[in-house]
Amino acid sequence: MIKPNAYLPELPPIGKPVKVLFVCLGNICRSPAAEGVMNEVVSEHGAMNDWVIDSAGTGNYHIGDLPDSRMRAHARRRGLNLTHRCRQVRVSDFDDFDIIVAMDGSNERNLRNLAPTTGAENKIVRMADFFDMTTRYDHVPDPYYEGAEGFELVLDLLADGTLNLFDTVNARRQKS
Ligand code: 4NP
Repeated sequence: MIKPNAYLPELPPIGKPVKVLFVCLGNICRSPAAEGVMNEVVSEHGAMNDWVIDSAGTGNYHIGDLPDSRMRAHARRRGLNLTHRCRQVRVSDFDDFDIIVAMDGSNERNLRNLAPTTGAENKIVRMADFFDMTTRYDHVPDPYYEGAEGFELVLDLLADGTLNLFDTVNARRQKS
């Protein structure tokens, strides 16, 4: 679904890949899952050469770790193998990526505080801005202290949000 009113930063011209960084707190649950789900969307559409996808955390608790074993197990049930190694967001990410996608309001605030310039800050978007209008969620809830349903909810929200992000970016690029 194209989200015509969703805010998007300036995008590179067609022929250059769109570089997207998904960001959460720990970089072991939501953002590596978003990276995996988005990679799947992109590869299903044969668009691997048009996208660069990565994830990072605002926190530094789990650097070098694989995603949380619960997140990996739930993703695996959907055919996704999450192999990202946790890393912390760095200021240079604002140069290296075109779109920086925050999972919740706290991630967004942390990213805004880190952004070195207004231009950098303008790269920040919210995952929830790409959710289907029928969802009651305005962020991707942290599943870390939740049960299985929390992890399933994250994957459901990300399946919707990443596909809509993909469609909306493509539509916007075609227009420019
Ligand atoms: P994430 O979940 O932000 O979706 O990766 C969390 C993982 C770990 C912690 C918090 C949130 N933690 O406090 O260690």
